[in-house]
Amino acid sequence: MAHSDSHILAGRRILLGISGGIAACKTAELARLLVTASCDVRVVMTPAATQFIAPLTLQAITGWPVSTEIFDPQQEAAMGHIALARWADLIVIAPASADCIAKLYTGQADTLLHTLCLASTAPLALAPAMNTHMWQHPATQANIQGLQQRGVRCWGPADGAQACGDTGPGRLSEPTELYQHIVAHFTHGSLADCHLLLTAGPTREPLDAVRYIGNRSSGRMGYAIAAAAVEQGARVTLISGPTALACPAGVTRYLVQTAQQMYDQVMARIAQADIFVACAAVADYRPETCADHKIKKGSTPYSLTLVPNPDILATVAALPKPPYCLGFAAETDQVLAHAEAKRQAKQIPLLAANQVSATTGIETDENALTLLSDQGRIHLPQQPKQRLARQLIHHLAEQYHAQTAVQNS
Ligand code: PMT
Repeated sequence: MAHSDSHILAGRRILLGISGGIAACKTAELARLLVTASCDVRVVMTPAATQFIAPLTLQAITGWPVSTEIFDPQQEAAMGHIALARWADLIVIAPASADCIAKLYTGQADTLLHTLCLASTAPLALAPAMNTHMWQHPATQANIQGLQQRGVRCWGPADGAQACGDTGPGRLSEPTELYQHIVAHFTHGSLADCHLLLTAGPTREPLDAVRYIGNRSSGRMGYAIAAAAVEQGARVTLISGPTALACPAGVTRYLVQTAQQMYDQVMARIAQADIFVACAAVADYRPETCADHKIKKGSTPYSLTLVPNPDILATVAALPKPPYCLGFAAETDQVLAHAEAKRQAKQIPLLAANQVSATTGIETDENALTLLSDQGRIHLPQQPKQRLARQLIHHLAEQYHAQTAVQNS
């Protein structure tokens, strides 16, 4: 079973949390199933969980040290708790005890696992396991319902005989069932099973030891697209110019400075991509030379020779088997005419025309786009970039699947 799901789960970064309870011994089997499906699994245990299963068991299965302590300098040196919170595509806590659930609901952070959950924007799934009366207690029910209202998934519990002798709901769902929930989590969404490679942010073209030619792109539009694609189940690789933004949860990011570095990173990964989105504001030119010292001020005019940079989008679109390409065109005037000319010149199926000015489109929280394709134009009105990105991904997914269906027919 795990083998046939490998294409969905391979490379997914799953943070497996274990809280204290007799069912903790079953989590080893879940970890094994995920590792067999080529997931990258890291385990974090509460101190109580270590009473029920040895961290070494999970370390042997996953191949990674298990984190347990919130203030452990060795663990922080390996991967700090904030880095771990950002790393995860999905956090699954199995078993989630009544105490664990209560603390998650009230936002307590007295264990490493709870701190991670507070610090992470990754989706969180709980597999509750506890005595049936504890599960049915109004306090536990209020906590779990409150968490579900915040978007936390609840898988189980199962019904049946319990270790304590009681019978009823409270058993940890079987590892195979939890595994299927995880597969389903990554299968849903209009871009499930797709690898989307995207560029975002500005590039910097060095002029001397301290100066560069850059532009005002903040990266906000591209980062919002990356997050929206993850929401739709895509595996997302982001090649980003310098920005102040944190990497969105579930995204693999490579930071670059220059257009040439962005080109090299894209070309190294493009063979694995189903979709390529070029949202970066890439410098068309770079200084022919870069002085290794600071250029001194003089009293006469100073001129620079600029040479063209490689065009990343045009190169990708001209590949023998290109991924589905979405380009952007940042324009200040005759936006649609110039954008359509770029779409034709670069031979790309879909292009987002982006009006930019001193106050719109670039380095702002809001944006508006017009999508141009052979099927016509779709205007996406001005709104926050996060919401706009979701609409854009909706149309991108529709057109990508339509094209794939034609190619396969
Ligand atoms: O980052 P923000 O502040 O949120 O702003 C977002 C944005 C305005 C930068 C973004 O929405 C946008 O419009 N990006 C494209 C900007 C741009 O440089 O467009 P262009 O018309 O110069 O380039 C056309 C297309 O070719 C773009 O997809 C660009 O990424 C790509 N290109 C351009 C030059 C080059 N050497 N390589 C490229 O891949």
